[in-house]
Amino acid sequence: MKHILSRTAVATVLALSAGASHAAVKVGFMLPYSGTYAQLGEAIENGFKLYVQEQGGKLAGQEVQYFEVDDESNPSKGPENANRLIKRDQVDVLIGTVHSGVAMALAKAANDSDTTLIIPNAGAGAITGPLCSKTVVRSSFSNWQPGYAMGVVAADKGYKTAVTISWNYAAGKESTDGFKESFEKAGGKVVKHLTLPFPNVEFQPLLTEIASIKPDAVYTFFAGGGAVKFVQDYAAAGLKESIPLLGAGFLTDGTLKAQGESAQGLLTTLHYADSLNTERDNAFREAYTKNFPNLPPDVYAVQGYDAAQLLAAGLKAVNGDVTKKEELRDAMRSATIDSPRGTFKLSKAGDPIQDIYLREVKGEENVAVGVAVEALEDPARGCKL
Ligand code: PHB
Repeated sequence: MKHILSRTAVATVLALSAGASHAAVKVGFMLPYSGTYAQLGEAIENGFKLYVQEQGGKLAGQEVQYFEVDDESNPSKGPENANRLIKRDQVDVLIGTVHSGVAMALAKAANDSDTTLIIPNAGAGAITGPLCSKTVVRSSFSNWQPGYAMGVVAADKGYKTAVTISWNYAAGKESTDGFKESFEKAGGKVVKHLTLPFPNVEFQPLLTEIASIKPDAVYTFFAGGGAVKFVQDYAAAGLKESIPLLGAGFLTDGTLKAQGESAQGLLTTLHYADSLNTERDNAFREAYTKNFPNLPPDVYAVQGYDAAQLLAAGLKAVNGDVTKKEELRDAMRSATIDSPRGTFKLSKAGDPIQDIYLREVKGEENVAVGVAVEALEDPARGCKL
């Protein structure tokens, strides 16, 4: 378990002893280092640092200094944690976070203080919708994207009814709404939406309800530690063989070692897969595995890596001068990112426009079996940029 104070204190001491704050880009990670999303935060930071390391430890000729705050995936502590990085550490760029509710607070703090924010995971629709801003971009996805893609797949498979199930917060709501949108447009019907509070894992009563409803399929959003338990419980309840379990790919990403047999054959949709077998992805996976031998090169690691690539594109355009905020942000928005997932550009609202793969779990891999929807762009409803 990592502690906020000690991590931040160590980072600050390192920064001071480097003694060159004016000559370095100060990057503040606000990520979960504890709780159900702890492994996700770690993977994002690893991916980011791997890219910087591959550039010789510098971006656009600038040293990079890191600051870290554990946000615990706790939205109520969001504003305070964001201000630790913005006001106390005075970072130039924020990288965060995983949880959509915490990301809402972080995006607000970034906007209020005019601090550039790159979101390496959280898919909250509002951030690139009604609250969209030039200050903020994502290297990840919108919650709508994988859900919408799976609705298309489920309808194609001929399923007519579905139950959706997730944690009761923005990510679960938006992911299952995305599924419902495309599934119902194609003639299907979501007959019930089941929820439980984040990060609870008492799934049993809800699984009993699914068994009694007997839908053609179940669509779910869970991630991290909760996803491991949900997949295990779904199989243990005897549902896996009778009612196909579909998910946003977070359900089985970075989790397969722990899920084992219970995850075999599951279909999910995501903007990354383990079997792309491109030169770019193979190089990334090899480097990641060499640096972090005990961790899978998962979607979170890719999103962290690409957050660093976005920042590099921005810094390059301003020759490393972080005070040129507008130019830096415009350059990130017009960059083409050579991602392990495949190249992508950002939409006007700041979301990756990207292929969403259909994946099947085989052993410890999410194997791509096709592209569910090509070049999918979040509709960014309400964004006025
Ligand atoms: C989110 O809260 O937006 C979220 C969290 C974990 C994921 C994906 C999305 O894996």
